[in-house]
Amino acid sequence: MKKLLFISGSLRKDSYNTALLKEAEKILNESLNCSFLSYSEIPYMNQDIEFDEIPSIKRVRKEVEDSDAIWIGTPEYNHSYSGVLKNLMDWLSRPLVAGDYSTAVIRGKKVAISSVAGSSSGSFAREKLKEMLHLFSCTVCEKEIGISLGKRFSDATLILTEEEKRNLKMECQALLEMLD
Ligand SMILES: Cc1cc2nc3c(=O)[nH]c(=O)nc-3n(C[C@H](O)[C@H](O)[C@H](O)COP(=O)(O)O)c2cc1C
Repeated sequence: MKKLLFISGSLRKDSYNTALLKEAEKILNESLNCSFLSYSEIPYMNQDIEFDEIPSIKRVRKEVEDSDAIWIGTPEYNHSYSGVLKNLMDWLSRPLVAGDYSTAVIRGKKVAISSVAGSSSGSFAREKLKEMLHLFSCTVCEKEIGISLGKRFSDATLILTEEEKRNLKMECQALLEMLD
């Protein structure tokens, strides 16, 4: 079975973005081997330590390298993706061998994206995320879901509307076709 790695751009315990990824996992886990990347402990990118043997960095790079695709769900922070996600992507984008960018684990990866945010539904964050992913020569899934929380902002859990459920299923289907 092919491997899908979910990456939530929110470290929040009750994150709506993580909740949406879990809904996608429920749809996909019969077809794909799904797991979630844990990366809250990785250090900030700093070129002084870039080629040090950092166990958490080795682990996240290996998990990304071993996956056939990743699904990034990001909140929108000030019209962009979150800072923790940017820091992770900076680590994943750097070469394992100095100067040889083809060795970066994110390079050429198949990626699905989603966002749960305020009124913009995370459209600014998704556009900026796609811009960065294109820099890494990633193939981005043609379907993507953006959810505007509206009145659900303070709800304990994310309850999807019927239309959102349909859109999520369509993105899952498009991802499966990408992996065929
Ligand atoms: C620092 C910060 C900036 C934010 N900026 C935006 C924004 O520009 N557009 C938007 O739609 N929502 C914005 N939000 C709202 C978040 O996108 C929203 O709370 C989202 O649900 C957080 O994701 P999570 O539930 O996965 O943690 C912002 C929230 C924070 C904390």
